[in-house]
Amino acid sequence: MKRFFISILTIAIFLLFFVSCYYDNEEALYPTLSNACDTTNVIYSGTIAPILSNNCYSCHSNANATFGGGIHLQSIADVITNSPKIVVSIKQTGSKPMPPGGKLNSCSITQFDIWVRNGMPNN
Ligand code: HEC
Repeated sequence: MKRFFISILTIAIFLLFFVSCYYDNEEALYPTLSNACDTTNVIYSGTIAPILSNNCYSCHSNANATFGGGIHLQSIADVITNSPKIVVSIKQTGSKPMPPGGKLNSCSITQFDIWVRNGMPNN
C-alpha cells in the first residue's frame, strides 16, 4: 500500500513538473499581436503611401479618381493638400467616412496622425 502511494506521488510530481513547464508563447500563438504598431519610424514611402495604396487608390489614384469624387491621393503633394480632410475621414467621425467600405486599422490611423504631426515629410 505504501508503495502504491509512493508511486502515485511520483507520478503526480512528474505531471506537476510537466504542467509547470508548459507555458504559452504569445508570439508563437498570435503572430499578429507581436507586430506592434510602429509609431517611431513613420515615413511617407514606407508607411503612408502603402496605407493609401492598399486602401484608397482604388478610388483615389490618378487613374481612378473619378470613383473618388475627383480627389487624388497618389502624389504626396495631393496627400498634403487633402490631409485635413483625410485626418477626419479616416477616423470616420465626419460625414464622409473613408474608406467607405470599412475602417482602417487603428495603427494606420495613428500613423497618419503622426506623419501629419511630424510636418508631413517626404521621406
Ligand atoms: C470605393 C471608393 C473609395 C475608396 C476606397 C476611398 N474613397 Fe475616399 N472618396 C470616395 C468618394 C466617392 C468620395 C466623394 C464623396 C463625396 O464627395 O460625397 C471620396 C471623398 C474622399 C475625401 C474628401 C472628403 C471630404 O471631406 O470632402 C477624402 C479626404 C477621401 N475620400 C479620402 C480617402 C482615403 C484616405 C481613403 C483610404 C483610406 C479613401 N478615401 C478610400 C470614394 C472612395
